[in-house]
Amino acid sequence: MKLAFTLNGALVRVDADPDQRAVDLLRELNALDVKEGCGTGECGACSILVDGVHKLSCLLLAAQLHGRELTTAAGLGSVKNPHPIQKAFAEHGAVQCGFCTPGMTIAASALLAANPDPTRDEVRQGLSGNLCRCTGYVKIVDAVRAAARKGDGGEA
Ligand code: FES
Ligand code: FES
Repeated sequence: MKLAFTLNGALVRVDADPDQRAVDLLRELNALDVKEGCGTGECGACSILVDGVHKLSCLLLAAQLHGRELTTAAGLGSVKNPHPIQKAFAEHGAVQCGFCTPGMTIAASALLAANPDPTRDEVRQGLSGNLCRCTGYVKIVDAVRAAARKGDGGEA
């Protein structure tokens, strides 16, 4: 099946198995910031934005990407030009091994787009589908709150 979508602002046209999982197709397209942890919708590592909405790419089929606008963590910002949420994660020590970080920052950007000034509990609730095995979450919540306080935590 021929698919066309935008991936981090670039038009992608690809001939893909429509039943392939989106996470696999995206990683084949070198979007290696899209991680696979559980593969069953439990960990959030594979989080992407589809038309600005937080989705788990391990639960999407490739066919569901057709015509959509996709954003991965690499589309939020870069090392040279980080998104304010990515900057806050770095400044608050909210990254250890980094495996969860792309998904966490995607989830945080969706959260702040919907709720620009969440309480700590609201941040915890908003990120509850994203698991981190390293940080204990306190610094992640600190980082999201810091990005929110600056009023610049929404989508880039
Ligand atoms: S890999 Fe998709 S939710 Fe865990
Ligand atoms: S920083 Fe290691 S899983 Fe979150």
